[in-house]
Amino acid sequence: MTQPLMAYVNNGFVPLDEACIHIEDRGFQFADGVYEVVACFGGAYLDLMPHLQRLQRSCEAIAIDLPKSLVELQALVQQAYEKNPFEDAMVYIQVTRGVAPRAHVVNHAMTPTLVITVRELPKPSDEKLQTGAKAITMQDIRWKHCEIKSIALLASVMGKQEAVKQGVDETFWLDEQGHVLEGCATNVFAIINGVLTTHPLDHQVLGGITRTMAMDVAKLAGITTEERPWKLNEKGLTECMMSSTTNAILPICHIDGKAVGAGKPGQHTLNIRTMMLEKIDALRAHG
Ligand code: PDD
Repeated sequence: MTQPLMAYVNNGFVPLDEACIHIEDRGFQFADGVYEVVACFGGAYLDLMPHLQRLQRSCEAIAIDLPKSLVELQALVQQAYEKNPFEDAMVYIQVTRGVAPRAHVVNHAMTPTLVITVRELPKPSDEKLQTGAKAITMQDIRWKHCEIKSIALLASVMGKQEAVKQGVDETFWLDEQGHVLEGCATNVFAIINGVLTTHPLDHQVLGGITRTMAMDVAKLAGITTEERPWKLNEKGLTECMMSSTTNAILPICHIDGKAVGAGKPGQHTLNIRTMMLEKIDALRAHG
């Protein structure tokens, strides 16, 4: 794309390089805000409404009034895409409580800040898809409301930094008993005795939109799914995979330096990924 990137900030579009936020925005000072990341393929969004509904739930959870209706947001996302028309795009939507002199509690009504940016959708490389990604595990150091898609991502940044330091792709958070919760920016699944297994939705994991899609296509493929706490050392564990808007499904073939199953992408993972890509191709073709 040769034209300059455009960002939506509060009430209008400006060149991304000129877009700015007040230094007393509570997003900047307190990470007092929430966000969404949505993928768009050839101009068609993957599950835009479920993403916007999750944004609404995140806002409600921290008592921010979403500044637009979901229909208005849908239209703004579309406008943002039209100004940044990447073939495959990643739309970022952020809502913060707004601008006020720094104090933990603000008693008056506030005007939330709304920002929308669009970038090219980053995708896993062919090599990563063939060999599978690698992960490490760490004790979960995040807060106790991971179901809210909060912009307070310091623990996730630290987890990712540690992954990169160790030459791997993702860090998986473990609870105190050693159950695998999710990654820094992904949900995690295992195939255990042929069953697609993932941690249940509670305060320790984000309800990923791609997580739901992966379980839906697995069921269509005749794979049984189960939401329960699980560990990496369970007997019968043959495959691991992670899901997110930017990865769809990605096989994880090494964790903490050990091979998962045969150490290469497994058949269930490949089937689920293929079915997800078919859905994306259909979306691309028919909108
Ligand atoms: N991350 N878990 C966490 C902690 C996440 O941050 C994400 C998404 C997911 C997957 O959710 P979804 O399938 O709805 O993308 C799970 C986004 C992509 C990010 O922070 O960039």
